[in-house]
Amino acid sequence: MRDRLGRTIDYLRISVTDRCNLRCVYCMPAEGVPYKAHSEILSYEEIVRLVSVSAKLGIKHIRLTGGEPLVRTGIVQLIRELKKIPGIDDISLTTNGTLLAPMAKELQTAGLNRVNISLDTLQPECFATITRTGSLDAALEGIKAALAAGFDPVKINTVALAGVNDDEMADLAALTLKYPLHVRFIEVMPLGADVAWAKNHVLPLAEVKARAESVGRLAPATVTGAGPAQVFRYATGVGTVGFIGALSHGFCHRCNRLRLTADGRLKPCLASDKEIDVKQVLRQGADEKELKALFSRALALKPSHHKLQQHKEHERIMCQIGG
Ligand code: 5AD
Ligand code: SF4
Repeated sequence: MRDRLGRTIDYLRISVTDRCNLRCVYCMPAEGVPYKAHSEILSYEEIVRLVSVSAKLGIKHIRLTGGEPLVRTGIVQLIRELKKIPGIDDISLTTNGTLLAPMAKELQTAGLNRVNISLDTLQPECFATITRTGSLDAALEGIKAALAAGFDPVKINTVALAGVNDDEMADLAALTLKYPLHVRFIEVMPLGADVAWAKNHVLPLAEVKARAESVGRLAPATVTGAGPAQVFRYATGVGTVGFIGALSHGFCHRCNRLRLTADGRLKPCLASDKEIDVKQVLRQGADEKELKALFSRALALKPSHHKLQQHKEHERIMCQIGG
């Protein structure tokens, strides 16, 4: 699929649930969000049907997100089914890692190719502050299990937060000296429950990079599926260090993705409130042609660039979009 600006769209991010076992400050309100009823969430059969249609349109890479995708029962079976779809050659998953350790090998055997795991800090108290719940040890166990299961690459998502974890940027980057991890620093985006909080905690990535360079010189590098990240490597590094600056660097011209929300809406862009209701059409018994037309409509709605710099409120928050 190509959009009106000539961007090739071959990547579909699917949120399989709006539920999460954590309450990260940049994502959810402390009390959580009212969860959607089970009947409002796409069934696995519906997801498989939509992915089959999207594969015929040129989608090759599927990423499963949440909320936290590992809280939804049967996720391993979903991956097995997605793996069978002709044209889908890469399946990845974004997780907070805290439920991953006991599931890692099973997910890998089912056909999951790679994982991105959130890790914002190496300090237990800071982990508790950021996630409001959840245990750092569980997340670290998840990362270890991901490496042991043979996922490649294993990426780490680190949201850089001024005054919260800014003193740990060098330590987190230094993980790539010892482990084959690909640590990506992400500028906090105003897409959580508390937009003002995000605005007040933006840590520019130039600053993060300067701190990472206190460990050693960073030379340009590459990693599979780097997407919007600018990727570097220490001379003796076994992993890489990446920077995803949604606010300070424009990468919309290279955007290759569409999103499907857990409640069955196609979203043209993370930062757009526009959506196409596919669930309703699907449940009314739509044929393949009708479903293909919905993907084309979503594609036509893809903006040329986002307006995140304006720090406006959005209709959905991160856990309802899928990060
Ligand atoms: N800004 C930037 N990144 C975010 N994530 C969640 N909320 C935000 C936000 N407001 C990231 C987390 C997680 C992924 C699902 O999205 O780091 O790794
Ligand atoms: Fe859950 Fe991820 Fe949101 Fe944290 S950022 S509350 S782990 S969905």
